[in-house]
Amino acid sequence: MHNKRDFLTIPDLDALEVIDLLDKAADYKAGRVRGGAGPLADKTVALIFKKPSTRTRVSFDVAINKLGGHSLALSGAELQLGRGETIEDTSRVLSRYVDAIVIRTDEHDEVARLAASASVPVVNALTDDFHPCQALADLLTIRERQADFSKVRLAYIGDGNNVCHSLILAAAMVDMEIAIGCPKGYEPSRAVLTTAVELAKRPESITVTDDPAQAAAGADFLYTDVWTSMGQDDESRERHERFAGFQIDTALLGRAKDDALVMHCLPAYRGEEISAEVMDGPRSIVFDQAENRLHAQTALLAFLVEASS
Ligand code: CP
Ligand code: NVA
Repeated sequence: MHNKRDFLTIPDLDALEVIDLLDKAADYKAGRVRGGAGPLADKTVALIFKKPSTRTRVSFDVAINKLGGHSLALSGAELQLGRGETIEDTSRVLSRYVDAIVIRTDEHDEVARLAASASVPVVNALTDDFHPCQALADLLTIRERQADFSKVRLAYIGDGNNVCHSLILAAAMVDMEIAIGCPKGYEPSRAVLTTAVELAKRPESITVTDDPAQAAAGADFLYTDVWTSMGQDDESRERHERFAGFQIDTALLGRAKDDALVMHCLPAYRGEEISAEVMDGPRSIVFDQAENRLHAQTALLAFLVEASS
């Protein structure tokens, strides 16, 4: 496979490919394209999950079925990987059996090594550093409300984590303004910000502040994620203290535009990063966002497998 395409971070696609994928995802969603005996007919996709997942795992499974393929769900612990077989050997062996590999794990480097050794496309289903599939679905969700990304101000309130990183890169790629509001010490990584500034048509449209009200001011969309990500449970107490004031509640929503909408990648913890009133209120589009994981990933898998064959 000479033109193998992976999706480990947002810039693995170029801006035109992102827009094309969003169009295809919208077509799948509207039923304008049917999977049937389509791009994944007679193909198998391995889903390796070393961390819990509801949305990502189920939406990939359903997407594979819609495209006519078979999925094989594997927890890290049931593979020899859990007993010390290397990721490279695992990758070479799986490449002999399956047509694509989707993996969720801790270290981003593990996914990069898997992809480097694989002869089939590899998809990052979340690492400690990135969650690119989430960001694709987020772009689809935003574009359903505002077709022109350059007119959107997105405010992300909370931890400068994996979800935040992929959102910054996605925003830069489609020329969308993004304002990050996070406590000091929990900013997104410098490397991600540097890449985003390089990608952006308007580098000044990427801002980081420790004042949530400033980030939220005039926003079209307010977005948040958990204060404590998977693998950080021992920091939970300290994070609760540090993130106080970084909740999307009615007062913070009041800083945004009058018709601003609220997003969350889920799972949500009401009363922490988002108030129950906002999460379950009329401005919340979190379940449309969750649904769009399915449509975005259907388009993504079809693209990667076709491009790599
Ligand atoms: N948003 C998201 O990736 O959810 P899961 O952890 O349930 O897959
Ligand atoms: N930042 C969260 C996202 C969950 C989808 C985590 O990594 O746990």
